[in-house]
Amino acid sequence: MESAASAKPDPVRVAVFASGRGSNADALVRFSFRPEALYRIVLILSNNSTAGVREVAHRYSIPFVHLSSATHPNPDDYVVALLHTLESHAVELIALAGYLKKVPPAVVHAYRGRILNIHPALLPKFGGPGMYGLHVHRALLQAGETYTGASVHLVDEEYDTGPVIAQIRIPISPDDTPESLAARLLPYEHELYPLVLNQYARILRHC
Ligand code: GRF
Repeated sequence: MESAASAKPDPVRVAVFASGRGSNADALVRFSFRPEALYRIVLILSNNSTAGVREVAHRYSIPFVHLSSATHPNPDDYVVALLHTLESHAVELIALAGYLKKVPPAVVHAYRGRILNIHPALLPKFGGPGMYGLHVHRALLQAGETYTGASVHLVDEEYDTGPVIAQIRIPISPDDTPESLAARLLPYEHELYPLVLNQYARILRHC
């Protein structure tokens, strides 16, 4: 008979927020099916109704919700709808994965320390407003960096300023372009993010 101490806790309920193609969302979902997974993706939310991540949600039969200024032109209504959506799916943890919209302060407040993001650079370098996608890789090549990487960090009220939890570092080669860097980094992001999210879920359950 299994003892109470060895019983697996209920998986932590995670919402993924994404604006684009959703490859990190896909990696997070795929990891969640592994036996060692301690979280489950219960919601995928996007500010873009036609984003590729919608297909990811569809593929795995995960509820997809589109919330933006198009669905809620009034910012206060938008925040209420966002909080209500998270509450109605009993979300415990949020993972941003290429989410380009700022998380409203009320949501940061409600989920303080429970919102993670992945950024395609070694924060605190090359973060902040406008630092997304190829802009990041272009900027660090222009700055003559010899290493880059990906960072998983906690989300606060500003872009990319919350505490870094984990990083993976890769060398830049002289013939790298913004496109080649983005492509080379992506598989590392897909490895790193689920592992960090899973560890975070473990800590949440044991505190
Ligand atoms: C990734 O490079 C991630 O680090 C950044 O946005 C990109 C999203 O890519 N935050 P995808 O939509 O997960 O494929």
